[in-house]
Amino acid sequence: MSIKNIDSFTHTRGESVYLDDIPVVNGTLYACAYGSPFAHGKILALNLDEALSMEGVVRIFTCKDIPGKNQIGGIIPDEPLLADSAVHYIGMPVALVVAVSAELAAAAVKKITLEIDKLHVITDPREAQQHGNLIVPPRTFRLGGSNSAFDNCEHVFEGTADTNGQEHLYIETQGAYALPVENGSIRVISSTQGPTAVQKHTAEVLGIPMHRVEVDTTRLGGGFGGKEDQATSWAALCALACWILKKPVKYSLHRMEDMRMTGKRHPYSSDFRIGLDKDLRILSYEVSFYQNAGAAADLSPAVLERTLFHSTNSYHIPNVTATAYSCRTNLPPNTAFRGFGGPQGMFVIEAAIAKAAESLGVPASAIQHKNLIKSGDEFPYGQLAESEAHACWKKAKSLYDTDKICDEIRQFNSSNRFLKKGLSFMPICFGISFTKILMNQARALVHVYLDGSVNISTGAVEMGQGVNTKMLQVAAQVFSISPQQIKVNSTNTYRIANTSPSAASATADLNGKAVLDACEKIRERLILSAAEILGCLPEAVSLKDGQVLINGSPSSLTWNGLVNASYLKRVNLSEHGHYATPGIHFNSEKEKGHPFAYHVYGTAITVVTVDCIRGTYEFDAVKLVHDFGTSMNPLIDKGQIEGGLVQGIGWMTMEEIIYDNEGKLRSNALSTYKVPDIYSVPKELDIHFLETAKDNLAIFRSKAVGEPPLMYGIGAYFALRNAIKAFNPNSDMAFSAPMTPEKVLMGLYAHKTGNR
Ligand code: MTE
Ligand code: HPA
Ligand code: MOS
Repeated sequence: MSIKNIDSFTHTRGESVYLDDIPVVNGTLYACAYGSPFAHGKILALNLDEALSMEGVVRIFTCKDIPGKNQIGGIIPDEPLLADSAVHYIGMPVALVVAVSAELAAAAVKKITLEIDKLHVITDPREAQQHGNLIVPPRTFRLGGSNSAFDNCEHVFEGTADTNGQEHLYIETQGAYALPVENGSIRVISSTQGPTAVQKHTAEVLGIPMHRVEVDTTRLGGGFGGKEDQATSWAALCALACWILKKPVKYSLHRMEDMRMTGKRHPYSSDFRIGLDKDLRILSYEVSFYQNAGAAADLSPAVLERTLFHSTNSYHIPNVTATAYSCRTNLPPNTAFRGFGGPQGMFVIEAAIAKAAESLGVPASAIQHKNLIKSGDEFPYGQLAESEAHACWKKAKSLYDTDKICDEIRQFNSSNRFLKKGLSFMPICFGISFTKILMNQARALVHVYLDGSVNISTGAVEMGQGVNTKMLQVAAQVFSISPQQIKVNSTNTYRIANTSPSAASATADLNGKAVLDACEKIRERLILSAAEILGCLPEAVSLKDGQVLINGSPSSLTWNGLVNASYLKRVNLSEHGHYATPGIHFNSEKEKGHPFAYHVYGTAITVVTVDCIRGTYEFDAVKLVHDFGTSMNPLIDKGQIEGGLVQGIGWMTMEEIIYDNEGKLRSNALSTYKVPDIYSVPKELDIHFLETAKDNLAIFRSKAVGEPPLMYGIGAYFALRNAIKAFNPNSDMAFSAPMTPEKVLMGLYAHKTGNR
């Protein structure tokens, strides 16, 4: 049974509630943060007097006002909520102005000045690494012996590959609203993927236990990873002001503040070396990743880890050495973004394969196909694959008749001088589970009310991905009742404790299994109760479409009747479900284990047409085969593929984050940062569901779908590269994404220079 996204009705009518739609309480004050105008330096003086004298200003907070810990670092305690003695990036919060309106707070912020003793600004991760500025010690994943394996290789190629960052550009900017509650408690409404992270850090900042902090999240206008960790500071800042002033305090960031002050996808610079035998089998691969972490750890160590996990993408390579450096620079701390470091790792192996293919004069697809991972092959981290890589590739090749497409492209290219087409294959493989094992747990609270209606709470945060609809489907299926009888609540730390953030594409799996656990326990009690009422054996009772059946035939009892009668008999109609993914483990000393519940596979074929006079391009088609398992909601899952793909194409082609050498963001608004719109969507988009009925750990065998499709976007980069090569075979562009029209134009007319 699949249903429409339960939010679709209120979304289209503009009635869905986001942070800014919540009616404010009388007397609410508004906050605005003063961010450092300098990227690095020791604080000499902070001048607040003029701002304090401005109209409507109630108070200005600094780190000195924090009653608890001035610390919001999630993995490593290296990030103050408000700067104390030094500033480390432009936009780093230094003070918080609270005023009677958002406009007056923003006006007062402009009057604050900061004096610093300037320190050297680093924006380049390789420079940071050379200075030893690392967030955590480097990590290396190893399989076989890559060094000696190169001796047996017929062909060895090396190079450099760079990917830029990406602005999350959630439509709803960061924000929070904190309200005082009696007895020294506080309620925080936060646009966060991680209500528990907000609760924990708010409690620490205020110096109170977590049980006094209620965090509530109805839904987000997009998160994409940007609100996994980085929603916390705005909530904690509102909470700080609320706590001290005993007044409700709200802060909803202006788009340009959000772009300037928050971290983004991590840019990476990487070196690779790839070795193949005469049959195009990849025997050896070495790669070094330089991750631009920004000024604090945030989630960077976890992102780094996922880069290593996905450094060989969908391929089996017997000898691998992959090393990753998390480099501290003077940029805003970079953070989670759909794919979580995986895409950065995959880009490099695809670049290495492209380099080998171009040098050997074979299509990249020949190398890709030859090396696809098979079931039983070992990933560099020790887990054995249960692979759908070949199935997806084969299906894509036959379903879309890629041989014919290639012929047509060849013909087109030989008969057109200034228009060239390029094609790429992009296989993906993405591991599902938080790479930190302990995070793979979830809880749900299910109430069946005495009228038969059902109410569900989970730790899942709805951010547009449709997770609430899936939670509702789980309960509807277990109870076999109409979706209309079920309501999903906001995510609230007083109902569900110790939640993992909604992230890692695992939200529906983890929380769905917790809902399943709770609903099954209630159903068991109801079946016993029905057997008593109907005077039959429990084994004979089942629930179907709102009816109670005995041996498959309708009884006199309906669902509503059964619930009510059970209530009268004092049967417990509520349950708290719990789920922890079984069988996963990882030893980070050996860097081996079985970290993922399962992998998601797919193959995309991308065709692009380049205008070789202007450097502009259009995507003719993306045709893909994706491993959904057995989708529990094909409509929602298809939407995730479409959105993820276009977001990936944006990252690879047009979204260009530019910081200058002083660490100042130049692409700080939508006029200077170009994102995909409806015209960037491929003219043809075919999504085929790979039919598999294999068992897996996904909820109802419906595999996680949130992040994997973003990586199909990498195919856009290589399709463009192939089109450029069709125009100018001698073009030797660096592997450097995004492939903006400027870079395309330079690539079209560039000639071989060095060893790139
Ligand atoms: N889809 C929408 N519409 N909005 C979002 O913010 N976030 C993505 C993905 N799809 C996102 C989205 C990211 S980064 C993740 S990890 C997953 O959804 C999170 O939700 P899931 O675990 O339920 O897939
Ligand atoms: N994915 C997404 N978010 C995370 C992860 C992960 O693997 N680990 C910690 N936060
Ligand atoms: Mo997604 S980057 O795991 O929030």
